[in-house]
Amino acid sequence: MAKQAVLLPMAALALVLGALATIPAGVRSIGVCYGMNGDDLPSASDVVQLYKDNGIDSMRIYSPDTDVLQALSGSGIAVTVGVPNADVGGLASRPSAAAAWVQSYVLAFPAVQFRYIAVGNEVVAGGRVLLPAMRNLDRALSAAGLADDIKVSTAVAIDVVGSSFPPSAGTFAPSAGYMARVARYLQSTGAPLLANLYPYYSYISDPGAVDINYALLAMPAGTVVVQDGGYSYDSLFDAMVDCFYSALENAGAGNVTVVVSESGWPSAGSDAANTTNSQAYSQNLINHVGQGTPKRPGPIEAYIFATFNEDQKLGDDETRRHFGLFNKDRSLAYPIDFVNP
Ligand SMILES: *[C@@H]1O[C@H](CO)[C@@H](O)[C@H](O)[C@H]1NC(C)=O
Ligand SMILES: *[C@@H]1O[C@H](CO)[C@@H](O)[C@H](O)[C@H]1NC(C)=O
Repeated sequence: MAKQAVLLPMAALALVLGALATIPAGVRSIGVCYGMNGDDLPSASDVVQLYKDNGIDSMRIYSPDTDVLQALSGSGIAVTVGVPNADVGGLASRPSAAAAWVQSYVLAFPAVQFRYIAVGNEVVAGGRVLLPAMRNLDRALSAAGLADDIKVSTAVAIDVVGSSFPPSAGTFAPSAGYMARVARYLQSTGAPLLANLYPYYSYISDPGAVDINYALLAMPAGTVVVQDGGYSYDSLFDAMVDCFYSALENAGAGNVTVVVSESGWPSAGSDAANTTNSQAYSQNLINHVGQGTPKRPGPIEAYIFATFNEDQKLGDDETRRHFGLFNKDRSLAYPIDFVNP
């Protein structure tokens, strides 16, 4: 009996591990964007510890900050690293600059688990430099034997999509004429398109037009807010993701996956921006991403914006400074469970 009592917990543990091992490879807990435009933020190593403590297994950063890359070394947290918009032109015009970038920020950090390189964030004007910069980085990664492990992409906002309603009508906007070629390039390399998606901003542009719960991922299950051919939508988030899928299909790049590289809801700065709504959106997003969208069922990879409030961000729109999930003392801004069910 005594022996069994000792063995039982081990058997139970083996069952738990067995169950974990059968989770499809695509399912992962959610990522969080680590923006640093705030005063007195915790150190990079404290932030990495914060991610670990909360079960956050991926991070997006907006520049190849070497303190953060150092802190991520050996952490097991996967990272998406941004090339700041100002640096894209240089990487586009000189292959040697791309090789140097890969050397300084990727090869120099062998214990960092790099996932994507995001070339530019919401670049619209001057989008023509994206493709040559992506190509140069891909060649540098290939030369280093890393082309299969690290995918090069770009992060775009919904404004690259011209027509966005209904979701099946999604096409890239004439003002983002470079996007079709970018999309086909991503298809050729097997990289995803990184999309920053904010139902909040769509909602506040015309608050009377839809139920706020459609924007908050909070409609009762089965509610049909938008019927688009054979697809029923109960969340603006899904409608926006599928709009990107339609635009990719229309560009001849229907095999490209959409990774949601930013999404969140501000907790202050407007009538609809309060802690209740911010908490609801973040938790609903975490709970939702395992399911996928009507067009693409299956897990979505998504990054919540953002780790901290960023009081140094400029602009009249107060909400921009209030996306933080954590306070500066590293406590949660509101209760949240990052590991999706
Ligand atoms: C798209 O994916 C399908 C299924 O994996 C594959 O057969 C097809 O060749 C892919 N098309 C392109 C253009 O990559
Ligand atoms: C947050 O805003 C919603 C309306 O969007 C409102 O119903 C709710 O009462 C507000 N919560 C707080 C705590 O202010």
